[in-house]
Amino acid sequence: MTEFTCSQEIVSQARRNLNQEVWDYLTGGAESEMTMRRNRHALDSYAFLPRVLRDVSTIDPSGALLGHKLRIPVILAPIGSLQAIEKGGGASSCRAAARFGTIPMLSSITEPSLEESVASAEGPKMFQLYVRGDWDWIKAILKRVKDAGYDALAVTVDSSHYGIRERQLMNRYLPPSVKAQKDRHLQAAITWDLASRIRDEWGGRFMLKGVAHVEDAAMAVSRGVDAIYVSNHGGRQLDHCMGALDSLVEIAGAVKKKAELIVDGGFLRGTDVIKAIALGASAVAIGRLQGWALAAGGEAALLRSLELLEREIVNALGLLGVTSFAELSPAYVRKAEVIGPTHELSTFYHLPQRLV
Ligand SMILES: Cc1cc2nc3c(=O)[nH]c(=O)nc-3n(C[C@H](O)[C@H](O)[C@H](O)COP(=O)(O)O)c2cc1C
Repeated sequence: MTEFTCSQEIVSQARRNLNQEVWDYLTGGAESEMTMRRNRHALDSYAFLPRVLRDVSTIDPSGALLGHKLRIPVILAPIGSLQAIEKGGGASSCRAAARFGTIPMLSSITEPSLEESVASAEGPKMFQLYVRGDWDWIKAILKRVKDAGYDALAVTVDSSHYGIRERQLMNRYLPPSVKAQKDRHLQAAITWDLASRIRDEWGGRFMLKGVAHVEDAAMAVSRGVDAIYVSNHGGRQLDHCMGALDSLVEIAGAVKKKAELIVDGGFLRGTDVIKAIALGASAVAIGRLQGWALAAGGEAALLRSLELLEREIVNALGLLGVTSFAELSPAYVRKAEVIGPTHELSTFYHLPQRLV
């Protein structure tokens, strides 16, 4: 495989490798895709305020999340049906994450099994849960997750109903995990009390994934979560939400470091990551970028994609006049008008149908 020189090449290769149905499953959002576009718009609408004449000859791009050191503050978001995108599925993500030095969060609806994924590589791993059964079912899966050695549990809470994803509907495509699953309606009945019960039963590090409202973030803190994962599911669930970075800013102001914050939604570049950390996140997660990289060339291309993000982060931290994430603060960014079309990589979201 020729080495990819930048993320654009990775995404182009993914586009060539995937058929229309899988491309649309991975890339599309819900309904008008406004939430998905706002994710990008929110990121694009912050400008940097760089500082000069500081010694930036050595840069440390590392981060930390829930007591784990990260080579860069970027983790892998949970993706269902990864096996439809790349045959190794979750195991490829685990191996790339371990080789690079970050943490994968495994979806409860991806293959191979949660045990096989964890066994495929060393290093910390997190598990993302969808509720698909009664309390006995929940207890049984939590035991499996614990026995397999996962470090943290995230319960996804933005998916009470499955988003209306028109690209999938028009293709008459259902991802394998959705086809196979029973009891999806149980996800709609999760409440704060059930989430707390799950946290108690799990007993380890715990987070809610898909929080977008400050009051829910405050409630999560009062219920003792370790981390809040700010997300609108990459714009695949409720349409017409705020961009995730804008939600992060509100939530960071309310949570005041009482819980760690993860954010995802539209992150494609090192500069995107830097903006989120400057604005209060501990780490950023990548969904589509991870899927595109796997589609472009499996584990090796995902590793390369993470290396490219690292290169972009080191470059931009230096140009901003800081030598580590610890030196960043909101003073390094300011809201600014977005000029021209949104980020060039996100134009890939909108590649015409049926074009390869
Ligand atoms: C193909 C695909 C499948 C996903 N499956 C899951 C899932 O099983 N569980 C979950 O909590 N989030 C799931 N998500 C949402 C991601 O975890 C993440 O929130 C989102 O992709 C972030 O936005 P981004 O794709 O713009 O980076 C999925 C996203 C994609 C693109």
